[in-house]
Amino acid sequence: MPLVSMRQLLDEAAKGGYGVGAFNVNDMEQIQAIMGAAKETNSPVIIQASRGARQFAQDKYLFHLILAAAELNPEIPIAMHQDHGNSFETCKSAIELGYTSVMMDGSLKEDGKTPATFEENVAVTKKVVDFAHERGVTVEGEIGVLGGVEDGHGAGGTGLEHITDPDQAVEFAELTGVDALAIAIGTSHGAYKFSKKPDGSVLKMDVLIAIHKRLPNTHLVMHGSSSVPKDLQDVINKYGGKLKETWGVPVEEIQLGIRNGVRKVNVDTDNRLAMTGAIRKVLWETPEKFDPRDYMKPAREAMQKVVSLRMAQFGQAGHAGDYKAVTIAEIAKGYKDGSLSTKPLVAAR
Ligand code: G3H
Ligand code: 13P
Ligand code: ZN
Repeated sequence: MPLVSMRQLLDEAAKGGYGVGAFNVNDMEQIQAIMGAAKETNSPVIIQASRGARQFAQDKYLFHLILAAAELNPEIPIAMHQDHGNSFETCKSAIELGYTSVMMDGSLKEDGKTPATFEENVAVTKKVVDFAHERGVTVEGEIGVLGGVEDGHGAGGTGLEHITDPDQAVEFAELTGVDALAIAIGTSHGAYKFSKKPDGSVLKMDVLIAIHKRLPNTHLVMHGSSSVPKDLQDVINKYGGKLKETWGVPVEEIQLGIRNGVRKVNVDTDNRLAMTGAIRKVLWETPEKFDPRDYMKPAREAMQKVVSLRMAQFGQAGHAGDYKAVTIAEIAKGYKDGSLSTKPLVAAR
């Protein structure tokens, strides 16, 4: 299957009532781990690259590795997504490269640190939507601001400072016409999300449910959705790592989100933890080894295990063969003639 539109993938997920994991990649082994899991569980998948990933791997390497994944796995629908685009130019360059989806994260200014105003966010997101839809490319926007900082991107803090206001979410969706909407409900990027198992005081599932009630057909996105499992932390610490005690987002809360409109679930940290633990174990137990394959193979396997589990938990497992890819040109036509709606259905309060 060629790379598919994320809009098609999420529309199908909504029909099936499941969520789709969006997994970050920086190298070949991570792409192979995701594809191994997608094959094993027969899942459609979103592969995403941050600006940092595009820089680390270089655009062409990363993009062609993903094309190889599509070529080798014709039965798996794959959407290639720019994670946390910080400007129109970042999104434009991803679209011109061939990404089938972009996130314009206008919740922060271009510096990736300072919260933007609502008006600034709407203006830059709408500009990306116009450019992307003309070319059949999906757009995810963000309203509200996540906590934490990844790769220099993020407002910092705990994630509780800028929780999404449901009324603003409605207005934002109406003004921009985004295909998917990331909301802030108290999560943050990275391993240090919560200092105890999160309850309703830190993870605002009630806000998510309120937004879904107002925007029942809008595909919601949960960022910062790693669960930071204790067993993965333990492996790292057992083999010389120094992680402090920490909690992530419980899978049951993500599943509650999926029952309430969440269609895209962003996971990076859990895979980083799995790979690092596996590498540490090999190097700790067999310090004489120096062939990268000796530790990259177990690292890839450890990541595949996490991704397979998440695919089953999010419900995307078993759905790869439900549909045929619609070409990006047809998707562009759909936006133009209105058969692919960009006007959200808004329910009364
Ligand atoms: O946005 C968060 C993802 O975990 C990507 O992180 O910017 O360090 O590549 P990164
Ligand atoms: P985690 O750090 O929780 O894996 O979140 C990843 C993410 O939101 C990528 O955009
Ligand atoms: Zn994110």
